[in-house]
Formats: sequence, C-alpha cells, structure tokens
Amino acid sequence: MAEAFYITTPIYYVNAKPHLGHAYTTIVADVARRFNDMCGRETYFLTGTDEHGDKIVEAARNHDMTPKAYVDHISQMFRDLWPQLDISNDDFIRTTYPAHMAVVERILQTIYDRGDIYFSEYEGLYCFGCERFYTERELVEGKCPDHDKAPETIREANYFFKMSKYQDWLIDHINRHPDFIRPERYRNEVLAFLREPLEDLCISRPKSRLQWGITLPFDSDYVTYVWFDALLNYISALGFPDGERYAQFWPHAQHLVAKDILKPHGIYWPIMLKAAGIPIYRHLNVHGYWNVDQAKMSKSIGNVVAPLAMKDVYGLDAFRFFLLRDMVFGLDSSFSEEAMIQRINSDLANDLGNLFSRVVTMAHKYFQGEVPPIDHGVDKALQLGLDADAARATIDFETAMSHFEFHKALQAVWEFIGRLNKCIDVSAPWELAKREASRKELACVIYNLLEGLRVIAGLIYPVMPATARRMQTHLGLDPQQPFYQLDTVGKWKLLPTGTRLPKSITLFPRVVAPSQATAASQETKSQPLSPALRDAIAIDDFAKIDLRVATVIHAEPIPKAKKLLKLEVDMGERRTIVSGIAQHYKPDDLIGRQVIIVANLKPVKLMGVESRGMLLASVDGQDCTLATMDTPTRQGARIS
Ligand code: ME8
Ligand code: MG
Repeated sequence: MAEAFYITTPIYYVNAKPHLGHAYTTIVADVARRFNDMCGRETYFLTGTDEHGDKIVEAARNHDMTPKAYVDHISQMFRDLWPQLDISNDDFIRTTYPAHMAVVERILQTIYDRGDIYFSEYEGLYCFGCERFYTERELVEGKCPDHDKAPETIREANYFFKMSKYQDWLIDHINRHPDFIRPERYRNEVLAFLREPLEDLCISRPKSRLQWGITLPFDSDYVTYVWFDALLNYISALGFPDGERYAQFWPHAQHLVAKDILKPHGIYWPIMLKAAGIPIYRHLNVHGYWNVDQAKMSKSIGNVVAPLAMKDVYGLDAFRFFLLRDMVFGLDSSFSEEAMIQRINSDLANDLGNLFSRVVTMAHKYFQGEVPPIDHGVDKALQLGLDADAARATIDFETAMSHFEFHKALQAVWEFIGRLNKCIDVSAPWELAKREASRKELACVIYNLLEGLRVIAGLIYPVMPATARRMQTHLGLDPQQPFYQLDTVGKWKLLPTGTRLPKSITLFPRVVAPSQATAASQETKSQPLSPALRDAIAIDDFAKIDLRVATVIHAEPIPKAKKLLKLEVDMGERRTIVSGIAQHYKPDDLIGRQVIIVANLKPVKLMGVESRGMLLASVDGQDCTLATMDTPTRQGARIS
C-alpha cells in the first residue's frame, strides 16, 4: 500500500477574520499535501476552527451576537476563504461539532480513569487574554508578555492534568527523535523549557465563570480548558478511535504551526497523547511570524494584510509563490508590497515568464508550433546537459520539500530556470535558424528547451497549481494526466514530437509598484501642466518614425560611461543600441525583454560605440521605465 501523509494546520480562533498569517500556514499545508501527492502518497489535509473559550465569548459579546451565531459566522468566513486560495483541504473541523465534543469527553474520561487528572484548590495569576494562569517568573514587569496587562489573582478549585509526571518521558522522546520538532531552533526551545520543572496543567474552568465549552464528563460544574479541547481535533476529525481514516493516517501525522503555539503543540499535546495511550504524532513543523512593514502583525494594530486583497491585485499564484519563496521556513519574515512586486517582476515575469514565452514563440516561429523532432546523434554532440540539470533540480527539490524547506526547493527550480535561459543565450537559436544546415541542431535546442519547461511545470505545481496547469496545457499536454508525478517529472525526452502547441501566452505580467503609481498620480495632480505639450504634428510627420518591436539579446555596461548600456537587440535583424538606462536597469534584467525601438534614427557614436536606434522609455524626474509590449510580439513587428 502507498505510504500515507497527514498534514494539519492549527484550527484558527474565530474571534477575528482570517488574515495573512492564517493564509500563510494554510497555503504551506496545501503545498506540502500537493508535494506528497506528487510523490504518490495517500494524503489527507485537515484545517478548521477553534470555537470555545473566553476569547470567543468576549468577541461575540462585542458584536452583540450569541456565541453560537458568532462562531457560525466567522467559521464560515474561513471556510469560504480557502477555495479562493486554491487550498485543497479534505476536511474542515469545528470544535463545536458533536462528534468532536464526544471525543474530547472520551479522552478526558480515559485520562481521569487512569489517575492523571486531579482536583485541587489553586490561587494564581490569571490572564484573561491568554486564558491561562501565569507564574511570577513568566511575567514581564508584572505583566502578561503577550497582552501587556497585569494578570488578575484568582482563587479557584479546578482540575489539573499531571503533565509533570511525563516530563522525563517527553525529554527522552525528543532526544530519541531528532526531527520530532523542526526546524532545530524550536526543538532546542522546547528542550530548554523542559530543563525547568514542568507544572501541571489546569484543564477546567468553573461554569460560574464560563459556560461556552465542553462539560467535563466527571463534573458537570466545569467546562474543559480550550487548549485541551482544541488539540484533540487532530484525531477527532479522523474518526478516532475506530475510523478507517484514523487507522490509515494517524500513524503519519505531521502538524504545522507558527512559533506562537509551540508550547501547547510541543509539550501539552504529546503528553496528552501519551497519557491517553495514543501513539505520538510524527513531526511538528514550526514556522516563524510574518511581520508587516517591519511591525509585528496583530489584530489590534490593524496592519493585518487582507490576503484576498493581495491575491486580487497580483494574482493568486504570484501571492502563493511570494509567501513560500520569501520566508525561510522557521524564521520571521517581513511582508511588504514592494518586496512582493520585486519577486514577481524578477522571478516570475522575468525569469520564468520570459523563458516560457521565448521558447514557445520560437517553437512557433521555427517549427510551426509543433514539438520538433530530435536527432539523438545531434543531441549528444550538442551536449546541452539540461537532462542532468533537470535530474539534479528534481532531487534537490524533493529533498528540500521533504524537510519543509520551501524556499530552498524553489531556489533549486529557479537555478534550473536560469540554466535554460543561459542555454538560449549560448545556443542562439536565431543564429541557427539562419542556416538550413543547422536545422537539426535548432530542432534539438528547441526540443530540449520545451522539455525543460515541462519539468518546470511539474516542479512548480505544489506552489503554483494553476500556473503549472496553464504551462502544461500550452506544452500540449493533457491536463487530465497526472504527469506531475515526481518520478516522471525529472525524466527527459517525454514530450512527443509533433505535439501541437497553442500560441504563447504571458504567464506573469510585470507589475508597477503601487507606491510609484500613487506617487505619480499625486505628482500629476499638483503639476497639471508638466511637461508642456509639444506643437501639434500631422499624421505624416508621425509616419516618418519607424517604430519596431525588438528583443534584448545581450546587455553590458560601457566602461567609464555610468549612464550607458550597450544592448544587442533582435528586430528580425540584429542591432547594437546604446541606451542611457544604466542607472535604472541591470544588464541581466534586460535580457529576453521585449522593447520598442525607433529603428530609423541615423546611427550615432556614443563612447566609441555605434548606436543604431533608440529605446522608448518614459523619463520622469528620477524615474525611468521602458516601454514594452502587452503580450509577446513577433520581433520586428511595426508599431503605428
Ligand atoms: O492559536 N505569521 O489560533 P489563532 C505567521 N486556536 N502565521 C501566523 C501569524 C503571523 N503573523 N499570525 C497567526 C490559535 N498565524 C489556536 C490554535 S490548534 C489546536 C489551536 C497563524 O487563530 C499561525 O499558524 O491565534 C499561528 O500558529 C496560528 O495562525 C494561530 O492562530
Ligand atoms: Mg493567536
């Protein structure tokens, strides 16, 4: 039987709307599940909402709603969001489901019967925001470190769970399973915490104070502490104790959380499982926090980025890509729209998007839009080496993905994309196309490049499923086929010769920074007349200017000329153009870009280089932006 994979997200509190942090964790879980699908495993992906406790009651009160009506409303917002982020969860658990509540009661009774729950009078410092007691030494200047509020002293008789009894067992378990908690920094954090004596956990709340919870099966005057209730969702959703899904998936459970809830997952949860006689989960994967524009993201600061707003502006796959590529899994990361735009333009529009449109466009130009034949002798002699690069990229990708190192997995894919772009520059298909004698070589180059795109389409699937599908469709592959299975993705020469390729498309349009757009529109408002309009001309005057579409083939700085770049462009014929954009564009970022040139300017010499033409650009104060085409266009096409 195929190996199984079970991934969970935290079940989110329904005291506020979903935000970027929730979206990130849930997207990561989705990526992990899709990757495991690629590996041929049976997968199960669970998310849901955490609906009991003081916090929820307070939020409901603030909205003048009953707890029930309130949790229904917010839970539905989470449930509605996930399909919009291409989240492929199999189930959505709510802690108010009777089936879940029955499992909580059952486990409480089991642990109680085994003697690990006791009743005791307790006076302590209680933070209502955290819903828990604090010890003096946990406070910062007498205040709860999370809520910056002094806790209140309350005296209560409550039920306690004997966590201390299992402290040594847990330390041993963590030591014997080095990747139980990963990355390592969080494992170390838990071990450091366990160096101090572990206190027993208060797992009840008197009904005189809180009714919105699960009644203790052995004392109807109390409800269950929300964490003891919530953590059990991971097994109740599988149909514990005798569901088929429980038997199949629980032995392969992996949890995914952020560092804020490391302690309940790294300490309470394994001990609860142990005390109840249930096998321990496999891995706890812990990620860092997203901060927004350097500030800590919080519901109260109000700088929470609405995930859907980002997705609607930049596209869902670009959004998913940015989150996975920019955050080093385990560390904190800073979200800014600028950083996202930077990634989209460089990695997606430039590296991947241009590669895709260049290769497909060449297949159309040179081979009437069909996958060309490959002559094995010629292919061998060419020694492009892309097959070996694809195999390596696939292995690196698999290793990184298995360890939840998503940024590394994407790096491996982007290294391969870089190799393909280089391969175009080095093999210069447009040169081969000039000589009939090089026809077989040209076919080999294009074939190998198309194969490279097929591999990339497979490898980006977990992170950008929709883009993977689009690429596959445009490579003439049947989207119904599971050709993203990892054991075929990295293989070579799978594209059948003669496959018809649909016309090329733009995968990722370049985006303009909204800050620039905003600044520009403000400038226009304050200076309506600038720059002044030139004198009117007749259409014949305009017709004298020959504007053409060209692709930048090569770009390099000109020594001693700070502002100038020397460009080789292809507009059907090759041209050298000197352009004053060196302070605005890096040479590497220009290669492969389509530009618009004035093709019939008289040649001029600039810094010793003859320039035959001029690039169109908008120059506005310090800003300079090249004019470009909306979709990939034939080289040399006239603009009028
Ligand atoms: O803690 N950056 O729910 P919660 C990254 N109900 N991820 C973030 C984030 C940020 N700034 N903010 C939140 C709870 N998250 C409990 C869980 S599980 C049995 C019970 C994500 O709504 C991250 O996954 O406060 C974090 O662990 C989770 O939301 C906390 O969600
Ligand atoms: Mg929280």
